Amino acid sequence: MTELADRPTPDFPMKRTCPFDPPPGYQELRDQPTASRVTLPTGKQSWVLTKHTEVRSMLADTRFSSDRRLPGFPLLTETSKKFMEADPGLIGMDPPDHGPARRAVVGEFTVKRMQALQPRIQEIVDTFIDEMLAGPNPADLVEALALPVPSLVICELLGVPYADHEFFQSRSAKLLNTADGIEPREKAADELEAYLTDLIMAKEPSPSEEDLLGRQIIKQREEGTYDRKALVSLAFLLLLAGHETTANMISLGTIAFLRNPEQLAAVKADPGKTLPAVEELLRYFTIAELAGSRVATEDIEIGGVLIRAGEGVIGLAHAANRDPNAFADPDSLDIDRGARHHVAFGYGPHQCLGQNLARMELQIVFDTLFRRVPTLRVEAEFDELSFKDSTIIFGVRELPVAW
Ligand code: HEM
Repeated sequence: MTELADRPTPDFPMKRTCPFDPPPGYQELRDQPTASRVTLPTGKQSWVLTKHTEVRSMLADTRFSSDRRLPGFPLLTETSKKFMEADPGLIGMDPPDHGPARRAVVGEFTVKRMQALQPRIQEIVDTFIDEMLAGPNPADLVEALALPVPSLVICELLGVPYADHEFFQSRSAKLLNTADGIEPREKAADELEAYLTDLIMAKEPSPSEEDLLGRQIIKQREEGTYDRKALVSLAFLLLLAGHETTANMISLGTIAFLRNPEQLAAVKADPGKTLPAVEELLRYFTIAELAGSRVATEDIEIGGVLIRAGEGVIGLAHAANRDPNAFADPDSLDIDRGARHHVAFGYGPHQCLGQNLARMELQIVFDTLFRRVPTLRVEAEFDELSFKDSTIIFGVRELPVAW
């Protein structure tokens, strides 16, 4: 343990040495007595919190702002003026705007609403598995199942034509890839925004009660609050967050189950274990490890340090989810541990809006896939798989499987 003033400010984010584990440096940061400072790719510094209790208190504290346009927000890349002027959307809002904006849509994602979607999600999963089994063996699970299931589900929920999936999937992947700099990301964002603006304008003359975007138009018009730009921004976030995240969890979870056959056998023997297994997989992979980035709006004491107003702070979910004080033997995958207090969906007012949907999709996919394709295996050596290490959401690019 070193005094804060004498500690180095390591480059951040760090790279995983094993795709299944956080970078070793995250543990070193967590072992320090207080929060640490790190150096971002922009050359700026940020605080990093790594302990489970501290990450949760920070994320619950609205004195830490989610507005990425504020100077000091710990952005990973240099951004353009245009990016800084863009609407930050629900995920970047603070009080007093965030609460009402979230309440306007939260009813769409309750456990009850998701349960009503269950039969349709099951049908979707079965159809893609039918198609995979009827096609060439081996197949790429990402293309055959992991990406299409959440994409089709979110399309139907929002009222976005699935026929356009190649367009929005490729733009989303570009947008979340930080390796190629800001220009391709901004272009992808512009194209997605233009697409959703056209789509919403086409819905305006006769919005349908059958889809979320139609319902939002109707409701907001009744309340006299209809704002097309805000709805485009919400649709953008839901479309993006609604498929890319769950898709990566499907692929990674499949690899994890196949590498841990005794845990897979336990789930197959007792479907009641699938949901706890999903929670454990969410904790174990923590695919959105940087989602808890904030900037302090006043001087705040946390993690044994004083974070000054205007300083950036990252609540490092991946480190928190491997904190031995919150999870015994944290680096092992254990579906029986009771991992529900993980922070893979964030925590506090911005906690993932789509978490009930994600849980439902993951549960149905794993139950159905391993029941219907009991001989499923990964058709590549583990170290041949290509993992996404330069994206905001961790995942695997392709997953060759055979049965
Ligand atoms: C927020 C992770 C699936 C929609 C978040 C946050 C995390 C997260 C960590 C918090 C961000 C913050 O604190 O700033 C995940 C993971 C998923 C997943 C790991 C899948 C395994 C989904 C799905 C949807 C969705 C399926 C949509 C249908 C959202 C939205 C927010 C959010 C709208 C912003 C909420 C707010 O700011 O109030 N998600 N997410 N997510 N997520 Fe998810």
